[in-house]
Amino acid sequence: MPQGLGVVLEEWKCLDKEYQQLQETHRMYLQKLDEISKLQNNCSSSISSQRKRLKEVSHLVEKCSKGASEEDAKTLDEINEKIKMQPNAFSEMEAFLPKKNGLYLSLVLGHVNVTLLSKQSKFAYKDEYEKFKLYHTVLLMLFSFICYFFVSYRFLDAILNFLLVWYYCTLTIRESILITNGSRIKGWWVFHHYISAFLSGVMLTWPDGNPYKIFRNQFLAYSLYQSLVQCLQCYYQSGCLYRLRALGERHNMDLTVEGFQSWMWKGLTFLLPFLFFGHFWQLFNSLSLFRMAQLSDCKEWQVLMCGLCFLILFMGNFFTTVAVVRHKVNSRNQKPKSIGKAKSVNMTDMDAETSTHTEPAVDEEEPLFSNLDLFLFSLIVGLVIYWFMSRKKPEQIPEFKKLDTTAPTTRETSFIEKMKKTGKNIIVFYGSQTGTGEEFSNRLSKDAQRYGMKGMAADPEEYEMGELARLSEIKNSLAIFCMATYGEGDPTDNAQDFYDWLQENDDEDLSGLNYTVFALGNKTYEHYNAMGKYVDKRLEELGAKRIFDLGLGDDDGNLEEDFVSWREQFWPAVCEHFGVEALGDDSSIRQYELKEHTDLNMNKVYTGEIGRLKSFEVQKPPFDSKNPFLAPVTVNRRLNKGGNRHLMHLELDITGSKIRYESGDHVAVFPTNDSALVNKLGQILGVDLDVVISLNNLDEESNKKHPFPCPTTYRTALTHYLDITHPPRTNVLYELAQYASDPKDQENMRKMASSSPEGKALYQSWVLGASRNILAILEDMPSLKPPVDHLCELLPRLQARYYSIASSSKVHPNSIHICAVVVEYETVTGRINKGVATNWLKNKLVTDNGHKSTVPMYIRKSQFRLPFKTTNPVIMIGPGTGIAPFMGFIQERGWLKQQGKEVGETVMFFGCRHKNEDYIYQEELEEAEKNGVLTQLNVAFSRDQEQKVYVQHLLKKNKEHIWKLIHSDNAHIYVCGDAKNMAKDVQTALHEIGEELGGMTRTQATDYIKKLMTKGRYSQDVWS
Ligand SMILES: Cc1cc2nc3c(=O)[nH]c(=O)nc-3n(C[C@H](O)[C@H](O)[C@H](O)COP(=O)(O)OP(=O)(O)OC[C@H]3O[C@@H](n4cnc5c(N)ncnc54)[C@H](O)[C@@H]3O)c2cc1C
Ligand SMILES: NC(=O)c1ccc[n+]([C@@H]2O[C@H](COP(=O)([O-])OP(=O)(O)OC[C@H]3O[C@@H](n4cnc5c(N)ncnc54)[C@H](OP(=O)(O)O)[C@@H]3O)[C@@H](O)[C@H]2O)c1
Ligand SMILES: Cc1cc2nc3c(=O)[nH]c(=O)nc-3n(C[C@H](O)[C@H](O)[C@H](O)COP(=O)(O)O)c2cc1C
Repeated sequence: MPQGLGVVLEEWKCLDKEYQQLQETHRMYLQKLDEISKLQNNCSSSISSQRKRLKEVSHLVEKCSKGASEEDAKTLDEINEKIKMQPNAFSEMEAFLPKKNGLYLSLVLGHVNVTLLSKQSKFAYKDEYEKFKLYHTVLLMLFSFICYFFVSYRFLDAILNFLLVWYYCTLTIRESILITNGSRIKGWWVFHHYISAFLSGVMLTWPDGNPYKIFRNQFLAYSLYQSLVQCLQCYYQSGCLYRLRALGERHNMDLTVEGFQSWMWKGLTFLLPFLFFGHFWQLFNSLSLFRMAQLSDCKEWQVLMCGLCFLILFMGNFFTTVAVVRHKVNSRNQKPKSIGKAKSVNMTDMDAETSTHTEPAVDEEEPLFSNLDLFLFSLIVGLVIYWFMSRKKPEQIPEFKKLDTTAPTTRETSFIEKMKKTGKNIIVFYGSQTGTGEEFSNRLSKDAQRYGMKGMAADPEEYEMGELARLSEIKNSLAIFCMATYGEGDPTDNAQDFYDWLQENDDEDLSGLNYTVFALGNKTYEHYNAMGKYVDKRLEELGAKRIFDLGLGDDDGNLEEDFVSWREQFWPAVCEHFGVEALGDDSSIRQYELKEHTDLNMNKVYTGEIGRLKSFEVQKPPFDSKNPFLAPVTVNRRLNKGGNRHLMHLELDITGSKIRYESGDHVAVFPTNDSALVNKLGQILGVDLDVVISLNNLDEESNKKHPFPCPTTYRTALTHYLDITHPPRTNVLYELAQYASDPKDQENMRKMASSSPEGKALYQSWVLGASRNILAILEDMPSLKPPVDHLCELLPRLQARYYSIASSSKVHPNSIHICAVVVEYETVTGRINKGVATNWLKNKLVTDNGHKSTVPMYIRKSQFRLPFKTTNPVIMIGPGTGIAPFMGFIQERGWLKQQGKEVGETVMFFGCRHKNEDYIYQEELEEAEKNGVLTQLNVAFSRDQEQKVYVQHLLKKNKEHIWKLIHSDNAHIYVCGDAKNMAKDVQTALHEIGEELGGMTRTQATDYIKKLMTKGRYSQDVWS
């Protein structure tokens, strides 16, 4: 036998013997398990039978007590006492016996056994539960903190709310398991977690509209506060339980995280102010939400539901805490003095906030608050007060009453129901960004009256567009669409949802819908009238009936004329289609009635706010087009060294506004009209501009109650709300004609509003060609004396002006830079016309009589973004003020380099008139080139030599390098500035380079550039 085999046999024998023993042990274990199981059954059934018999004995004792002798009565009393003690003993026993799951646990987990059969495992489970709460609370605190202070994305909010839902759901399950294992958490605190889970779930589904934005910060601050209190509580509980354990008084489920803080001896007293503050915050939340729910444009059911949940939470928490305090005070009074006799309490029940149980026994001799208690309490209160004071009046209850009365005040989202209710048969939807489309819609809906029909203008964002198919329910019905195009053939913001709906619903049957489309666009843009064309085509595809051809309006030519001509042919087509006739009633139709206020509290009068009344005094984020931020101007300097023009660089301070931006975004500013023009208007019309008025819509069902925020003064309306500098449209002339006392003036005004060739030519030359604004018209037609209220009704709204942000948020997170040229020109009548916003901005000095100059602004996101991969080369083409976004891009590429990132080639093409005059940002550009942020700087000085040199000429000069960057190195091309000529010429130059170096035909080169655009590698930020 080989030597090794002996060892193997020996080993095997040994192993086999051990295995026999293991088998025996396991057999015994199974036997014991069996016995345990039998014993458990035995105990359980014995306990049941004991309980039953105990009841019977109790009845017998009661019977025997009647007429029993003194001695017998004593014996019976003793038995009675013991009977009373028994149920507790049974409960203690049952804590270690398997139990049936309650309804909730059975639903969630099924019938799995969740009873923990040893003290250790119970302690461990409770320990884990406490730790889970603590860790999760810290996580929630962090999340609320980040969302509140740093990032404002709905997506992150959704994650926070999801975490909350998950947290509360998990708590309800873990607590049910604890209860099954002998914990006495009960009553309100259990219910509290169900409500909280529901509340967080509702918050999660709340869509990202204005109501959500208003409540968001309040909710985040509340979550942050609750998490902090929760952490305090964890410490409090652990301290109490540690103490109870030290006293040998703990309940078997009361073991919790280690740690005892001496200052927690009076824990509940210490916690009470925080708890009550939290409860009242819940009440405040609920009241805020109820008030918000009453707002006309608050359509979300979540508002009311969350309000209700907060109210329930407040009531439950408040009354339970009051009960605890009462109980505590009572038990303090009855409490024996010695610690040794202190009554045991179950601190497990002090779960969420506190419990209906008393706090741990404390020595009566101890003072109510220790010095440390007072110190910490004062510190925390001090910090809270400091935080509140350091913000701008944040304790003010948010003004939820939305006073922007131009916004809808009814909740109707069904335009069909509204039309039926108000007897309308024509609806004019508008996709409009700067108001022209909306203006045309109003004019068309007003026209309807002249043909015996009733029309209404409607914002597609406010209505359920899925109802279009139902329009056939209304006799002789017609939908008109006035759709403007933006960006790269994109819809306006208010038409985005409608556009998505059209794209997504292939199966929609619109066969009963009569429609027509008027498109608003500008020929200088690549995607001319793309949106109007799309809507027209798509509605036809879905079966709708086009009753008149698509109208194309070109803002580069004469949009007004295009519209008037189209309208002139459109109405006869409508009449023919529906078999109706024009009523021949051409009289002016007023839409608003004037109300003068003589005794109105001036606090209720708008003074230029865009949205909420007093929003400029009490600024509350989030800031957007309806709630602009008043940004202080910190820098305002002239950029050009010479020449007659004024190019300026402004810096707006956004510290504390929570406004975030990216390089490439636009900043919108709300300008103010020149006060000299306003005064002249008042003078020429002979009116007191400081009269407080309201213009109220005569159509009570209309969503638009006033043409601008009312009540206000004429001065405010003409200064902040109305456009008094652009040449008025023909409808304004038509309506004003009635107020010209000279028949010649009247005739000319009517002629200009007509579609006759002479009328059009007159309007083109006398109004547009001479850039006559309303003041110039009133000056040049002295017989024209319109009532100021009618004029205010007719003038369009003053629009915000956009500027490409000239800074990077990476380098300047708290300021936004603007690069702009002041608009000023002489008209053919010899008048000097000044651009509203640029002249107003020019005069925004950093301090104005010791006050900071401010600018109402908000951010508009754009698609004009640096490539995601920093290594991709970029080619930036931006002559004149077109350099603006590239100042941001250059800063950002420099910052990336500083961070140690590898950054691709950065090539700049800039153009200006003269090197010594308007080579703006020369130092910055040359510095960037010197330190390698700009790998190539090309500047075209157009007027420094006989022949014009433009950016596109330099592009062609560098064609080999440019083509290599585009074709081989995946470069991204950016063009910014003039849309009318420059952007087109640059594109043509690139086509030519493609042709020459890519060996393509012109068509192929055009397609090549188009493809770059669709891939997001050719972006334009252009205006005209
Ligand atoms: C997306 C976007 C980004 C922009 N970025 C910038 C930027 O970074 N920097 C910048 O300076 N501008 C930028 N603009 C233009 C800017 O928004 C304003 O249009 C511009 O500053 C003029 O505003 P204003 O109120 O001073 O002039 P307005 O009062 O609006 O007057 C301008 C109008 O006057 C008329 N006009 C102007 N010059 C003449 C003339 N010589 N003859 C006859 N009529 C004339 C035209 O009708 C013109 O529309 C941008 C525009 C858009 C849409
Ligand atoms: N809507 C408004 O109120 C408004 C206000 C401001 C600016 N803008 C637009 O914004 C553009 C930029 O204005 P700005 O004052 O910043 O610029 P700018 O100083 O007028 O022009 C910058 C440079 O671009 C040159 N240029 C002119 N036509 C060009 C073309 N087709 N291709 C390439 N370069 C060309 C100019 O040369 P020359 O001048 O020597 O020909 C100049 O050297 C203007 O063209 C204007 O359309 C509009
Ligand atoms: C930044 C900007 C982008 C534009 N993009 C386009 C476009 O891609 N295609 C187009 O046809 N018109 C374009 N336009 C022109 C507008 O559609 C046109 O001026 C229209 O009358 C605006 O209507 P609104 O005042 O109702 O918003 C653009 C205008 C601006 C200011």
